[in-house]
Amino acid sequence: MADLAARPRRLRRTPGLRDLVREHALRPGQLIHPLFILAEDGLVREIGSLAGHAQRSVDRLDDEAATIESLGLRTVLLFGLPARKDASGSAAWDPAGPVPRAIDRLRRASPGLTIIADVCLCEYTTHGHCGIPSSRGAVDNDATLELLARAAVAYADAGADVVAPSAMMDGQVGAIRGALDAAGHGDVAILSYSAKYASAYYGPFREAAGSAPATGDRRGYQMDPANAREALREAALDVREGADMLMVKPAGGYLDVLRQMRDAFDMPIAAYQVSGEFAMIRAAAERGWLDERAAALESLTGIRRAGADLIITYFAKAAAGWLRDA
Ligand code: PBG
Ligand code: ZN
Repeated sequence: MADLAARPRRLRRTPGLRDLVREHALRPGQLIHPLFILAEDGLVREIGSLAGHAQRSVDRLDDEAATIESLGLRTVLLFGLPARKDASGSAAWDPAGPVPRAIDRLRRASPGLTIIADVCLCEYTTHGHCGIPSSRGAVDNDATLELLARAAVAYADAGADVVAPSAMMDGQVGAIRGALDAAGHGDVAILSYSAKYASAYYGPFREAAGSAPATGDRRGYQMDPANAREALREAALDVREGADMLMVKPAGGYLDVLRQMRDAFDMPIAAYQVSGEFAMIRAAAERGWLDERAAALESLTGIRRAGADLIITYFAKAAAGWLRDA
């Protein structure tokens, strides 16, 4: 017979009891809001596939920064859309490019904001790959390292608190750490996209950032979705190269990887709830098939429970509002 002396339902009886024994919580301070920065002035362009998000010019950032701070959010992640692309992605390290100018603007408008700059070449290259091509057509890993390091230094020069290399080139954390230190930026932290998978869930982002590869795919550098052990190996290398925080991306399909990273490393672990994860919930909610608020908060809570300390999410603003009104 069942042991009916033990009745877990006793602690689910009232909202107060449920609150008392709740194991995990979401705080706005742990959520990171992505921003897409345009090179041209005067524009706010809504992104169709990421409802509520826009590509913004540097001179249209102040209001957005004020809004996110008023919601209790404290951290942004910047992606740039350059005026011109070339084969090596040189606009990525141009001090007059969209990201350095946005960092400078946000620093002045919102001195308390934590600014993370994504470091990659795919938004800046004509071919749309995260590194420069080698003569054999593949990506030239080691030649790319120096370019990523230049971009990271440009963002640190502009005032970024954190740089986040996302190109999945071997040795990128070490190359960036060395270049930052040599440029006098020993206090700028590195958030490494340690386990970034070659995922089908990046579709809306590639539209938002104009970064889809012109030919081929990213499976030669991003991780195979079938692999978990390899994520721990990637993370261990990043730690050795000087990463301050580690990341798993995407989040929802990789909760086991998040948990294993949490258990293996005593460092802050970030999760990126990517554009496709956001778009799925949004699209279903628009059709009346899901309650957006409940589904979004449940997905974020699951990511926290799996082991993420911080979460990059397109729900950051909405979630901060829901948490405030709860
Ligand atoms: C590439 C990059 C990607 C995202 C951010 N930077 C993935 C890709 O295009 O391969 C995806 C983020 C998202 O989907 O929200 N450096
Ligand atoms: Zn990239």
